[in-house]
Amino acid sequence: MILPWDQTSKPLMLAPMQGLTNCALRSLFVEWVRPDVVFTEFVRVRPGSKQPMSAADLREVTSTHREVPLVVQLVGSDQKALVAAAQIAQDQGARHININMGCPRGRMTSGAGGGALLKYPSCLPELLHAVRGVVHGSLSVKMRSGYDTPGQIFTLLPMFEDVGLDFLILHARTVKEKYGGQADHTVSAEVVRQTTLPVIVNGDINSAAQGNDVLTSTNAAGLMLGRGAICSPLLFQRLRGKGSIKPGREERAEELAYYLRELVSRYQKLFHGNTQILYKLKEVVCFILDTDFAPQIKAMKRSKTMEEFLGHLDQIG
Ligand SMILES: Cc1cc2nc3c(=O)[nH]c(=O)nc-3n(C[C@H](O)[C@H](O)[C@H](O)COP(=O)(O)O)c2cc1C
Repeated sequence: MILPWDQTSKPLMLAPMQGLTNCALRSLFVEWVRPDVVFTEFVRVRPGSKQPMSAADLREVTSTHREVPLVVQLVGSDQKALVAAAQIAQDQGARHININMGCPRGRMTSGAGGGALLKYPSCLPELLHAVRGVVHGSLSVKMRSGYDTPGQIFTLLPMFEDVGLDFLILHARTVKEKYGGQADHTVSAEVVRQTTLPVIVNGDINSAAQGNDVLTSTNAAGLMLGRGAICSPLLFQRLRGKGSIKPGREERAEELAYYLRELVSRYQKLFHGNTQILYKLKEVVCFILDTDFAPQIKAMKRSKTMEEFLGHLDQIG
């Protein structure tokens, strides 16, 4: 089977998030809340270089998480570099490749791609066809609903089917909207209706109730969780009907303390020096929104040393 999930169920995927979903954070999620599929942070391809991806990215691509499939996400607009990077990722054992067509910071001129690819739709068939030609496992695209109009995606669906994509991940905002407003899941539902490809829906799923509503209203093949899962990894469990739907203060304290202590220990192995470890921890803490622990979270974000950070963490539980 080519898809990275078992089609008898609706998978819950951990979104690719640059700066956050490195192999240490992914391994914690896999061991603790077991997403059905995980993604690398985007791997920037390097046009014209003998090494189409950096050594650090190569390490990420190679990392394994036992039985949970890893999808390698590539970002770029240079066809040759994307093809070469896909081949290298596969040589390193990757089975699933995803192309980023959503990142709002990409520019075609710099070769960065991402959401900017949607500004040049006429280039897409050739580019995707070339990547499809070398990818033996699943090939998917993670995209916005359009560059500046949400209707754009509907014009691309027949081409996605023709080039042989295996599935689509839709974050139903336009590139221009960046992260403003709300993801429009009426667009997600229409996309599911109009394509034969499995569609994984993403955007603003921060509670089990929202996730269940989105699954029902869109009939999506599955869900992808980003900021909501970084804020509370147990969102995966709640969506599976496990644990409390609305956890109380004590339960949240237990989750937060375990989460951050585990990350400290895993980041100490992955990153070098307390300055880098602290910086990476703060990147995660920025997404933790919890009014019960707002003072401790604020203090962790302002910590100048690991000792200070750990001291504030001890006050949570
Ligand atoms: C800090 C940050 C980093 C992100 N990095 C990536 C990335 O590397 N690749 C990608 O396709 N999307 C990336 N995204 C977008 C997320 O994968 C996701 O599509 C978006 O956050 C909407 O889902 P959410 O509302 O569940 O967070 C990033 C988002 C954020 C906030």
